Amino acid sequence: PVPVVIDCDPGTDDAYALALAASCEQLDIRAVCAVQGNAPLAHTGPNALALCAYLGIDCPVSQGAAAPLSREAVTAEYAHGSNGLGGVKLPDPGRAFDSLPAWDRLYQEAVAAGGELQVIALGPLTNVATALQKYPDLPQYLAKITVMGSSLSGGNITAQAEFNVYSDPEAWQVVLASGVPLTVVGLDVTTKTYLSQDNLAVLLEKEGRASALLKGIADYAATRSSQSGLTLNDALAVASVVNPPVVTTQAADLRVQARPGSGVDGKTTATNPKKGEEGNCQLALRVDNALFQAMLLRMMDFYAAG
Ligand code: BDR
Ligand code: CA
Repeated sequence: PVPVVIDCDPGTDDAYALALAASCEQLDIRAVCAVQGNAPLAHTGPNALALCAYLGIDCPVSQGAAAPLSREAVTAEYAHGSNGLGGVKLPDPGRAFDSLPAWDRLYQEAVAAGGELQVIALGPLTNVATALQKYPDLPQYLAKITVMGSSLSGGNITAQAEFNVYSDPEAWQVVLASGVPLTVVGLDVTTKTYLSQDNLAVLLEKEGRASALLKGIADYAATRSSQSGLTLNDALAVASVVNPPVVTTQAADLRVQARPGSGVDGKTTATNPKKGEEGNCQLALRVDNALFQAMLLRMMDFYAAG
């Protein structure tokens, strides 16, 4: 299996992403790190810990950044509920946070995995950027970073910007400049995985040990007037690590605008790499939604089996 550290801000779709990751034997989850994002760290940290206990993910759970690198936090309780999990309350995890902060845990796991470690980043990139800044030799130990974020076709937090980029554009710039192989799974593909209430009902009819969580989040989504289903942005990023053909990527030079107060703050644009160059990322441009849905069904089978 691929050794991975999952950095996240749970987060309703982060919760589905962790559930998917835990169900895939292709992944060896070495640590889960929490960052502020969809909700303050006071929620996303405990949510990450409780989710790992609930889903049977047995690894260190580290707390990371409570604020972006150099700006004020922007949260998204309007989409994820005041506790970040659509009001779903998970059992007491009965375990404690890792004694290491996220950036130190990430570095330690990267060195321990001898260059094989992949990072799956599902929230603002603050923790990953902090690790890269603190440990200049970290890139040589990372096989790949897969990031959920960006959009070439309009945003979800502003007209132009996607939430994870908008939350900490400076952190994205650090990661894009790091030279670590990077796969970017943005709204251009994740929005194609939108599940209506009917689609969700079909998926969730198979009962299993994660049903209270997955159904609770779907029930919360049904109460929202803007979008009554779920777009599993973060789960698609996980799926792309487990099963790369689920997205089709293309080498690109991705640029992030960091211009606080302007209408283009957090906007991402992509150009083709110069001739003979590789660009700074592989950008996902197409999604095999049938394959993704099959992976979700397989996840339901996994939890139904006990
Ligand atoms: C991303 O922003 C968050 O709200 C979601 O969890 C996802 O990571 C989508 O733009
Ligand atoms: Ca997220």
